[in-house]
Amino acid sequence: MHHCCPRQSVNAGPAADAVRRFVLEHARLQPLPHVPEIQLYLADEAVPLWQKTEEELAEHGAPLPYWAFAWAGGQGLARYVLDHADVVKDRRVVVFAAGAGLEAIAAVKAGAASVTASEIDPFARSALALNAEANAVRYDITEADYLTEPLPAVDMLLLGDVFFEQPMSDRVNELAIRAAMAGAVVLVGDPGRSYLPRERLTQLAEYLVPTTRALEDADVKRTVVWRFDV
Ligand SMILES: C[S@@+](CC[C@H](N)C(=O)[O-])C[C@H]1O[C@@H](n2cnc3c(N)ncnc32)[C@H](O)[C@@H]1O
Repeated sequence: MHHCCPRQSVNAGPAADAVRRFVLEHARLQPLPHVPEIQLYLADEAVPLWQKTEEELAEHGAPLPYWAFAWAGGQGLARYVLDHADVVKDRRVVVFAAGAGLEAIAAVKAGAASVTASEIDPFARSALALNAEANAVRYDITEADYLTEPLPAVDMLLLGDVFFEQPMSDRVNELAIRAAMAGAVVLVGDPGRSYLPRERLTQLAEYLVPTTRALEDADVKRTVVWRFDV
């Protein structure tokens, strides 16, 4: 575990303060339905928050506020990591597309040697920092885009709910292949998204994860944790 503060160089400066204020204003700290030992700053409604994000940035095409929700895939993966701490203990873990940080928090709590959470959305990076504080854990936060930049040497790559769009899914699949070929254990949490690369997956666990109609077409999503093999 790291004994220093979350790395937040990307969040330095007045713009970062405004982003942090925005997250605190529009999300409230609450326990996760499927992982109650973790609490996160989450929103109740997606569309109004997206509109407010566009107003805050004074631009159209702002990133969707993924950071304000605990996605079913991430909840399943966080549940698995907490319940199988032996799999994570003493390992160097990267959480790609970490969102609000649920899998990263779970990995620290499970005793990982180090945890790095990657996010390209500055609002998510702010939420990652706030949620680390709220759960009294420490991890590194990076804006590095591992779809185009090299992945550091790691023992484990966690992919929670990242197979929902075709172009991104193809590239995440390539990232997972690279990581697995370099010897990392790659774990995927997924509630049946369209672009899941099923041919490479072995099922490890299955959960019924409560979610929200603000995001999904059902109140509960069957979510599977898979190992990705090459
Ligand atoms: C559906 S959310 C999943 C978040 C979290 N893993 C969970 O399960 O709650 C997908 C996330 O991917 C992030 N993302 C998309 N492309 C990315 C990239 N190239 N590098 C890092 N994060 C990325 C988005 O900003 C978004 O927060």
